[in-house]
Amino acid sequence: MYKKIKGTEDIYGKDIKYWYYIEKVARETVRLYGYHEIRTPIFEQTELFVRSVGKETDIVQKEMYTFEDKGGRSITLRPEGTAPTIRAFVENSMVATGLPKRLFYIGPMFRYERPQLGRQRQFHQFGIELIGSSSPLADTEVILIADKFMKKLGLVDYEIIINSLGCEKDRQEYKKALKEYYANILDKVCDDCKKRYNTNVLRLLDCKIDVNYAKNAPKITDFLCDDCRKHYQETKSILEELEIKYKEEPRLVRGLDYYNGVIFEIHHGKLGAQSAVGGGGRYDKLVKELGGPNTPSLGFAMGIERLIIALKNENVPIKEVKNNEIYVAHLGEKARVVALEISEELRENSISVVYNTMERGLSAQLKHAARLKCKLCIIVGENELERDVVVLRNLETGDQVEIERDFIAGTAKEWLSES
Ligand code: HAM
Repeated sequence: MYKKIKGTEDIYGKDIKYWYYIEKVARETVRLYGYHEIRTPIFEQTELFVRSVGKETDIVQKEMYTFEDKGGRSITLRPEGTAPTIRAFVENSMVATGLPKRLFYIGPMFRYERPQLGRQRQFHQFGIELIGSSSPLADTEVILIADKFMKKLGLVDYEIIINSLGCEKDRQEYKKALKEYYANILDKVCDDCKKRYNTNVLRLLDCKIDVNYAKNAPKITDFLCDDCRKHYQETKSILEELEIKYKEEPRLVRGLDYYNGVIFEIHHGKLGAQSAVGGGGRYDKLVKELGGPNTPSLGFAMGIERLIIALKNENVPIKEVKNNEIYVAHLGEKARVVALEISEELRENSISVVYNTMERGLSAQLKHAARLKCKLCIIVGENELERDVVVLRNLETGDQVEIERDFIAGTAKEWLSES
């Protein structure tokens, strides 16, 4: 027997309704804000992620599924959706259709991480990218959409945390201060952080092991230039006017290198160690970096698996997908074709029908119907056919009636709406 690859999941059965629900709420939310779907390939040139996500990040250093294809090209399964979206934006000259461009995506991402609850090697993101606006109005739109999406899902136990990473110059100053701070305690931090100290000191704030050292580190917000401070301030005040609750976290840095300016994360109260259900922020230099014109942009992505854990933990009621509503049983040569016609007629009426495709007696068919949790059963028998009637049975109550052929769909609909 073959087994699925570590860190991947088969998604089926009771969980499917969560996937339908989240995808539906996601599509409906972003439609209202004018976002259009983009579906990029699952794999890209490795260099795309190295250039955008950053050479020194954990994603590029340790987590990418990279392989050589038969043509000798280095290929990587996408670890995130922003770089592919921007690659597509540039490659397809989308700038020509006017800015800002509003795009969204839903799909699988791949990171070679140590699997645990809420952390997988194949996981799924819903994300949006707002390409081409440097205004704080864009920052607030993106955070507003993230908040609206969480609310529409029915979640309440979450928190939006925000920070500003300033511009390149601000970060230079800040990195100097961080280096001074960590220089004194370098022998105490983990081995990875010792390396990160020289390659990308911001990453030390992100370390899951050395959290206590980060708490007393200098804050980037003390190093913001006037423009970045103003942008951050305006974003916060618009959020306040919209009554969107947020918490400032001056040591939030995010795990990807393309960010600048306002960044944010959404944490859920009941997710434990992997509490971030989503994250995002500005990446004003990325479009240019990937060969496009200077195009300030930003976005966010949510982890669908983590949203499902959050929905379950908050006991948000999710409607069952309407399936297996009626079982159509039949007895005899002639009845089986009539039963098939009746099934099709019911399906024309948007009713989910399971038609018996096995050579089974009536009691076996009824047992099967019960196992499938069908609400109603229609029994088409030879005797009844002669009188042009069928039997309609409520499998939950045991009630049954004979109905004429012309009234099957109408009566079935009525019974279904009552059950
Ligand atoms: P990220 O913070 O790396 O950002 O990922 C966003 C979300 O994806 C996380 O908050 C988490 O819910 C989910 N996620 C990440 N890794 C895993 C994993 N191994 N297993 C399960 N869920 C996971 C980005 O990917 C950026 N591209 C977001 C963005 C869009 N920024 C601007 N635009």
